Amino acid sequence: MIRNDIHEANRRSWNAATRAHNSHKADQAGFLRAGGSTLFPEEMELLGEVDGRTLVHLQCNSGQDTLSLARLGARVTGVDISDEAIEFARRLAADSGIPGEFERADVYAWMDAAAREGRRFDRAFSSYGAVAWISDLRAWARGIAGILAPGGRFVLVEFHPAATMFDEEMRLAHPYSSGGEPIETEAGVGDYVRDSADGLAPSGLVDGVRDFANPHRSFDFQWGVCEVAQALIDVGLRMERLREWPYSNGCALYRGMRAEAGRRLRTPPGVPDLPLMYGIAATRPE
Ligand SMILES: C[S@@+](CC[C@H](N)C(=O)[O-])C[C@H]1O[C@@H](n2cnc3c(N)ncnc32)[C@H](O)[C@@H]1O
Repeated sequence: MIRNDIHEANRRSWNAATRAHNSHKADQAGFLRAGGSTLFPEEMELLGEVDGRTLVHLQCNSGQDTLSLARLGARVTGVDISDEAIEFARRLAADSGIPGEFERADVYAWMDAAAREGRRFDRAFSSYGAVAWISDLRAWARGIAGILAPGGRFVLVEFHPAATMFDEEMRLAHPYSSGGEPIETEAGVGDYVRDSADGLAPSGLVDGVRDFANPHRSFDFQWGVCEVAQALIDVGLRMERLREWPYSNGCALYRGMRAEAGRRLRTPPGVPDLPLMYGIAATRPE
């Protein structure tokens, strides 16, 4: 069931968190203008060639990845429920001089409207903490299938549900799948950008907001990899790639993670490897 009540609560929580997150990132427009990119090799590999392609970035937050994709020649549209994120993304496009359309909307309503209007994309992309906010996996997958052009590709790069079972102290905190039940977080979306040092701030880390306390609680979901993959298969998408990686790109999921080149973080010393991210590329048959 699509939980609009939960989405609305999450919108408020994301508005507050996004302000804090961007406060830690130095001159993002200058970084992009100078040719900087916030993308990682994992999504680049799955997305393949984007030059000249239409691309929708679902749950794009403040548009840094969206505009990095535009720099590679994609004609981009970013969609996010957060007012703060979309306002920031529009400013970032203007200040960096990189073209991109940004639309503030709930992803379900947006995909429905886009499909009805006949809008179709060569690529649909979502990443790094997106699926956890999806309340109805079937409707989400149906929406994605409805906006892909024939031969179009959906790419997802996500934190692995096996990784997000653990809290930041690596205590077992959540089931692998919450079976569609929301998990309430009283403290809301946190300031993980500050906690990740420069992992999530490739333009440079600045002090910004201190001791951020989100006044708005949030609700997310644990979705197992098979649940996500099967939802996409069930709507007729063809699974082309399914990947797992034993590191997290940029985001410090736990305290004391081991840093590697390329802003990769692995489990803390002495802790065996876990799958920390997974990736999917699925295409709409011609
Ligand atoms: C962790 S962020 C994704 C970050 C993104 N990968 C990026 O490039 O920065 C999750 C995003 O999902 C958005 N979101 C959550 N629920 C949503 C919904 N129902 N519809 C649209 N966006 C939603 C939040 O506003 C937030 O910006």
